[in-house]
Amino acid sequence: MAANTTAPTLSFQNISMQFPDGTQAIADVSFDVAKGEFVTVVGPSGCGKSTLLKIASGLLNQTSGQVEVDRSNIGYVFQDATLFPWRTVKRNVELLLELHNTPKADRGNMAQRAIDLVGLNGFENHYPKSLSGGMKMRASLARTLTLKPPLLLFDEPFGAVDEITREHLNEETLKLFQQERFAGLFITHSISEAVFLSTRVLVMSARPGRIVASFDVPFDYPRSPELRFDPAFAELAGHINQSLRGAHA
Ligand SMILES: Nc1ncnc2c1ncn2[C@@H]1O[C@H](COP(=O)(O)OP(=O)(O)O)[C@@H](O)[C@H]1O
Ligand SMILES: [Mg+2]
Repeated sequence: MAANTTAPTLSFQNISMQFPDGTQAIADVSFDVAKGEFVTVVGPSGCGKSTLLKIASGLLNQTSGQVEVDRSNIGYVFQDATLFPWRTVKRNVELLLELHNTPKADRGNMAQRAIDLVGLNGFENHYPKSLSGGMKMRASLARTLTLKPPLLLFDEPFGAVDEITREHLNEETLKLFQQERFAGLFITHSISEAVFLSTRVLVMSARPGRIVASFDVPFDYPRSPELRFDPAFAELAGHINQSLRGAHA
């Protein structure tokens, strides 16, 4: 039988999460992320966004509901770039390949490809301490991309960099999304980041987190940086903002 190519890469079905101390973090969350989709979740602090990503990756088990996902190769990008200070950029990017026992002869080329993808060529032999925050994030992204994960989870990855650096990183993330064709699930507080990157934006309520709204983002890829100045962009961001204000209540 032919493989079902329309099956979602990640499917949450009626996911609820209650921690052992009684905190209910998530209530009845259902949505899918398919190949070619970049879904962003926005919601108030503490509403259960990180918990949701941890459930997707298997770091946490949900209390009820079903998750369907292939956990053998999921990329996870955090705000903290978590580079080893004693390793060069190249050696940091090779780390996951080492952990997966990729033959040494292949590692160099695979790492270099990822370094080129994120625009860090020329910095292979630099140590993290000599990199800017944005460059550290690029190195961290490159490390994640070496294994070509079909699903990438992003937990507020660009929250700690300045606005313009964030915009550049967003543009590069979009380029990677198109070149590498992963399915993306992204968490952010920034509505403009959410609209710029995504095919769909989901709004989560305050804890226990529920999905209270879903916005399809109608802009074609590739998206130019100027899309941010398009009135239709501002209008959609405004709708999401209003929904999020309701979600804080
Ligand atoms: N291990 C845990 N035990 C108890 N409560 C937790 C645990 N982890 C997270 N929480 C609580 O669950 C809620 C959701 O947390 P989190 O998913 O980190 O929120 P977000 O990422 O949306 O800010 C928060 O109120 C948090 O304090
Ligand atoms: Mg979080």
